[in-house]
Amino acid sequence: MRVLGIETSCDETGVALYETGRGLVAEQLYSQIALHAPYGGVVPELASRDHIRKLTPLIQATLADAKCSLADLDGIAYTAGPGLLGALLVGAGVARSLAYALNIPAVAVNHLEAHLLAPLLEENPPCFPFLALLVSGGHTQLVWVQDLGQYELLGETEDDAVGEAFDKVAKKLGLPYPGGPALAKLAAEGDPTRFYLPRPMTQKPGLDFSFSGLKTATLQLITAHHQAEQRAHIARAFEEAVVETLVIKCQRAIQTKAATQLVVAGGVAANQRLRQALKDFATRESISLCFPKPAYCTDNGAMVAFTGWHHLQKGNHNDLTLQVNPRWSLGEVRVRN
Ligand code: KG4
Ligand code: ZN
Repeated sequence: MRVLGIETSCDETGVALYETGRGLVAEQLYSQIALHAPYGGVVPELASRDHIRKLTPLIQATLADAKCSLADLDGIAYTAGPGLLGALLVGAGVARSLAYALNIPAVAVNHLEAHLLAPLLEENPPCFPFLALLVSGGHTQLVWVQDLGQYELLGETEDDAVGEAFDKVAKKLGLPYPGGPALAKLAAEGDPTRFYLPRPMTQKPGLDFSFSGLKTATLQLITAHHQAEQRAHIARAFEEAVVETLVIKCQRAIQTKAATQLVVAGGVAANQRLRQALKDFATRESISLCFPKPAYCTDNGAMVAFTGWHHLQKGNHNDLTLQVNPRWSLGEVRVRN
């Protein structure tokens, strides 16, 4: 079965082809970073327009790389949410129309599920069940992944997502969009002992997160210490607080579920300090740890093609109506048994 995957939920246009027996055959990714950079964040209308411009050429390039044509496809997977409404509609519209014209099934993929399954594309993939930490620009969740479509939400952020907090602190520090990687780069030059920031929600039991208080405390620190030489130290203190908080919560969740495997996904999983801290933690606790490669931490078409392939294998597909859901939660994902 050959499945074309289409990702257009935010500011990356991603296309990939996944095939039974061969795995990932070809992929293309176009990032809109340069387009949104002057505005300091994603401008939804510009994102939709750019997806319209780029999607068809990227599909053609993916098929050319894979040396196949549209007629060779057996199914099409597209991100249907969560994400930006207009951006989602571009991918869904193209995917749905192609599937109709080719008379093949199309399946709506949940973007969070795609992030959770992305680590399964690695060489030594984890097996079900595993604990997943999903840390992206829009979400911060601890999920017990029992099987395809069986996702138990153990904890989530009560306010800002961790990537969102990175981006807002980075903006205040005068760093370019996207803030997360820029902040991490600046933090590498900082002294971790210069400032100390709180580790939110770690004193209370439970697996939920809250990053808005930490964000505010960091913004106040930036205002109080506006000298340029302090910026790296503040960035480092913020990063240390985030990383330690995430490690503490992972440790609790591992104990709660007696888990032996931890998977970390989403854009913030590309953060090197988080990766190192979780590696140290996994060694201490003798659990296995799996990260997608950095290119599959952030948004991409490969994870959508792969997730769609799993669903199509099970006979899941959607009818001809064009439906997207900007707030589609993991708990609403349905799988045929
Ligand atoms: O998963 P993703 O590409 O998009 C969403 O689904 O949200 O995640 C994007 C988020 C952004 O907030 C970005 O700043 C953050 O991931 N990010 C990072 C790093 N690379 C990306 N945050 C911290 N350190 C990084 N190296
Ligand atoms: Zn994402």
